[in-house]
Amino acid sequence: MSDSVVVAGAVCDGGRLLAARRSAPPELKGRWELPGGKREPGESGEQALVRELREELGVEAEPLERIPGEWPLKPGLVLRVWMVRLVSGEPSPLEDHDELRWLAPEEADSVDWLDQDRPAVTEAVRRLREA
Ligand code: CDP
Repeated sequence: MSDSVVVAGAVCDGGRLLAARRSAPPELKGRWELPGGKREPGESGEQALVRELREELGVEAEPLERIPGEWPLKPGLVLRVWMVRLVSGEPSPLEDHDELRWLAPEEADSVDWLDQDRPAVTEAVRRLREA
């Protein structure tokens, strides 16, 4: 059986990257992540990401290229990440998060990212600097 997939977005706007602080579960509360969630049956990764960002942040967003690689979360579950362009709306922590922060590239290390998100964050910041 293939792995289940969690999709997450490196949401960029105005040269900054969006970081979201988890409000649950207790073991992840207070850590920062790229917003996203589980892909549902029948969805592409991009479709799942658009849905998750709408639900969690209340924004319309467009997945751009996927950041190469995938990162194990637990047996049978992997994380995949896309660069994402904000299309409309101002992100609000509607679900799963209690704070959002826009980080300039030089501020990217100022929050306590989930370990499994760090490689994708590093790559997203590298791309932001180049853009
Ligand atoms: O909301 P949904 O149940 O679809 O997903 P979630 O609870 O936001 O994320 C599912 C799992 O993926 C959790 O264990 C998160 O810790 C993990 N995750 C992650 O490691 N990095 C992210 N950027 C997003 C989710």
